[in-house]
Amino acid sequence: MIKHAHQVAVAEDPPAQAAPAEPVGADEHIAPAPRVSVQAFCETVETAAAVQAASEDRRLGKAHMKIQMGGAIAAVEAYRNSPTPNVILIESESRADDILNALDRLAEVCDAGTRVVVIGRINDVTLYRELTRRGVSDYLIAPVGAIDIVRSVCGLFSAPDAKPVGRIIAVIGAKGGVGASTIAHNVAFAIARDLTLDSVVTDLDLAFGTAGLDYNQDPPQGIADAVFSPDRIDTAFIDRLLSKCTDHLSLLAAPATLDRVYDFGTEAFDAILDVLRSSIPCAVLDVPHLWSGWTKRLLVSADDILVVAAPDLANLRNAKNMVDLLRAARPNDRRPLYCLNQVGVPKRPEITPADFAKALEDPPLAIIPFEPQLFGTAANNGQMIAEVSASHKTAEIFRQLAQVLTGRAEAKRTSGSMLTPLLAKLKLMKRAG
Ligand SMILES: Nc1ncnc2c1ncn2[C@@H]1O[C@H](COP(=O)(O)OP(=O)(O)O)[C@@H](O)[C@H]1O
Ligand SMILES: [Mg+2]
Repeated sequence: MIKHAHQVAVAEDPPAQAAPAEPVGADEHIAPAPRVSVQAFCETVETAAAVQAASEDRRLGKAHMKIQMGGAIAAVEAYRNSPTPNVILIESESRADDILNALDRLAEVCDAGTRVVVIGRINDVTLYRELTRRGVSDYLIAPVGAIDIVRSVCGLFSAPDAKPVGRIIAVIGAKGGVGASTIAHNVAFAIARDLTLDSVVTDLDLAFGTAGLDYNQDPPQGIADAVFSPDRIDTAFIDRLLSKCTDHLSLLAAPATLDRVYDFGTEAFDAILDVLRSSIPCAVLDVPHLWSGWTKRLLVSADDILVVAAPDLANLRNAKNMVDLLRAARPNDRRPLYCLNQVGVPKRPEITPADFAKALEDPPLAIIPFEPQLFGTAANNGQMIAEVSASHKTAEIFRQLAQVLTGRAEAKRTSGSMLTPLLAKLKLMKRAG
């Protein structure tokens, strides 16, 4: 099936080179592929490099990818005596007739159920029809970038009529106590209430998490029941562990008790996240300020990341280290986002947003003022900021963060927002500096 209309629209053959790495847009959501085998038979080093880069993408982390050269001929040879994988990627530099002949030969050795994706240079509607007739799942026009391969392979396993797969947003502080949890809880509240997106807050600070307190909930069960019984995890089980906070918001609460210690393996939360992804449109992860195998893995595998920093030097250093590392680990994703919190403490010398913007090469997504009265009231009453004061400008910031983080709006497109002038200003500063 040919799905990529925008690729079909390319008019002429582009020059032979690897396509530039273009990360996915905020509004595009590519669901990770399941544990499948993929074998690519390339003809050009550029395409082989793109497939290699795709195989390192977080969304293909479970897929088993193998890359070799030789195109369709090598594929026919390879499968004469061995079973075919879930997906075969074939690159062909040939003319249409030759591509179709090669595919006919491949069909003779291909097991039923194997999907074939073709990467070619020809943009021609007759060829598409013939490819479709032969059951080719997708046709990509070279040059392809890593994300084109990721999109195509992942697309094979998310049927268009299937329930959309949930988005995972990870929130972490650049230091402890900077308000990461508070922001995670308030943003999730806005996602549920203002965007009416069913959401789950997952409190990953098992020993000290405050989500239960902040939402005024005291659930008997929560995330500990799941992470300590990995064999029982499925949708129904996780569903029973959720406590309902509002119409569209549920909580997977931390026990916040110290009778056991919380040491986890790198993959400890994988199964829980898989269930959340498959059953809930949006999960907000409240990640504690830790750098361990499992926290790093959660951050790398999230759809979006929000780093919360207070305006001091340690926060600046830590935020930069986190953002740099996560950018490098997720080359095909939107860059990690960050916001400044607790800005404007009286008499405190602070590092300016412009300095953060310079060091992190991006302006902060939001600048949240230090407001002890407002935040203190909310925390002590078990309320959200919007519940204490719906019209407060900080409540509006959380609504805007909710929009940006769910891909509803690019920061720069949120017209009439409080963020816009600020972002524009910072961009100007960045250019000038
Ligand atoms: N903008 C703010 N102004 C004033 N107090 C804040 C602000 N943001 C967070 N706080 C307070 O800071 C404290 C630490 O917040 P928390 O969310 O637990 O931080 P973290 O999760 O980063 O450790 C809480 O008491 C919270 O109410
Ligand atoms: Mg916290």
